[in-house]
Amino acid sequence: MAILADLYREISLCRDCELAECRNMVVPGEGAADAEIMFIGEAPGFHEDQQGRPFVGAAGQFLDDLLHSIGLDRSEVYICNIIKCRPPGNRDPLPREVDACRRWLERQIELIAPRMIVTLGRHSMARYFPGASISKVHGTARNLDGRICFAMHHPAAALHQGSLRPTIEADMLKIPGLLAQDGHTKTEPEPEAKQLSMF
Ligand code: URA
Repeated sequence: MAILADLYREISLCRDCELAECRNMVVPGEGAADAEIMFIGEAPGFHEDQQGRPFVGAAGQFLDDLLHSIGLDRSEVYICNIIKCRPPGNRDPLPREVDACRRWLERQIELIAPRMIVTLGRHSMARYFPGASISKVHGTARNLDGRICFAMHHPAAALHQGSLRPTIEADMLKIPGLLAQDGHTKTEPEPEAKQLSMF
């Protein structure tokens, strides 16, 4: 979509925070411009910074497997991160970096208008489930401005802590049911915020 390409061009020129000094490539995001589901991770890692694409390393391979478990390919969803440049040494994003990058994510959400936002890990969770803890909120959904927000652990968590893998796999399997339960199409957002069932 031409407008998304324009946005990527703008993001590639961004120098709003110090990560512009050390990045190799910006990693705006990728996927279907009309995706129903948008996955939001944390930040690009080494491989993403090299390739300019999100989730292309080991965590990305697991994300692909999770998508396949619900019959989806990454080309059918939209995948991006809360910040678009790699923090040095893969450290956590700083609050000022998240703030500086906020406008790009907002514009992506506006353009893609997904029915569902899936947060991957605590950094993106913090925006849509403020004050929540990932251990309690993962696998649950809320409705925000007519959009389903669903929290999941970051796929990389399963690589560090194998015992989380079945939990992450089970959470992913809830997504089709939540979309079916919501029932609205992309063109008919529900105006009133309501809590969706938590399973
Ligand atoms: N982890 C993330 O949060 N995002 C990526 O793109 C890759 C790894």
